[in-house]
Amino acid sequence: MKNITEVLNWRYATKQFDSNKKISKENLDTLLEVLRLSPSSYGLQPWKFIVVNNIEMKSKIREIAYDQSQITDSSQIIIFANKKNIDSNLVDEYLQFTAKEKNISIEKLEGFKGMINGSFAGRSSESLINWATCQLYLALGNFLTSCAILDIDACPMEGFDRNKLDELLGLSSMNLESKVIVAIGYRSEDDKSALSKKIRFAKEDVFIELN
Ligand SMILES: Cc1cc2nc3c(=O)[nH]c(=O)nc-3n(C[C@H](O)[C@H](O)[C@H](O)COP(=O)(O)O)c2cc1C
Repeated sequence: MKNITEVLNWRYATKQFDSNKKISKENLDTLLEVLRLSPSSYGLQPWKFIVVNNIEMKSKIREIAYDQSQITDSSQIIIFANKKNIDSNLVDEYLQFTAKEKNISIEKLEGFKGMINGSFAGRSSESLINWATCQLYLALGNFLTSCAILDIDACPMEGFDRNKLDELLGLSSMNLESKVIVAIGYRSEDDKSALSKKIRFAKEDVFIELN
């Protein structure tokens, strides 16, 4: 078993990838399974993950991501997108799927349905999208740690024009909006960022202990 703090100290937001090194299909499948297994509030999974291998598409995305070279030099990029239609239809679809998976009648889920719809009622669409975005970032955290466990480098990126990316990929028509791009692959030996000191606040600045 790997030492978790060693793994987390090893990982860093990789700035220069070795464009000759590709992630194996087995490792990529594992990472996609990590995303699929990520927890979310009520289990609603209000997300999609778009895996981009195609170099022409990556070049187009680089143009709208402040020319960050990680986009084209990495093995893949994965776009983390949240659903925008957080409403009772989405809840119904999820509960129908749950009933089928658990082989129970949908009526058994009525109480749960009321609870979810009740918590969404009266909230603005902006607030519901914020809720969905929080779920997406949970998946991001899981994903970055899992990459490190597999000795895979990653760079999470919010530095891109979200509207342009949504337009390029037609995400709006799918009721989706992009929030983060994660480039994955293997660090270049020339990436000086790998040697940078980790800047993290001291324990006493981060934790409040109530005894
Ligand atoms: C949500 C998020 C967005 C980020 N966006 C970018 C980005 O656009 N470009 C970049 O080079 N690094 C980006 N970073 C990397 C952070 O700057 C980096 O994680 C932080 O400085 C801590 O350093 P470390 O991850 O190397 O330990 C992002 C990180 C996160 C979590």
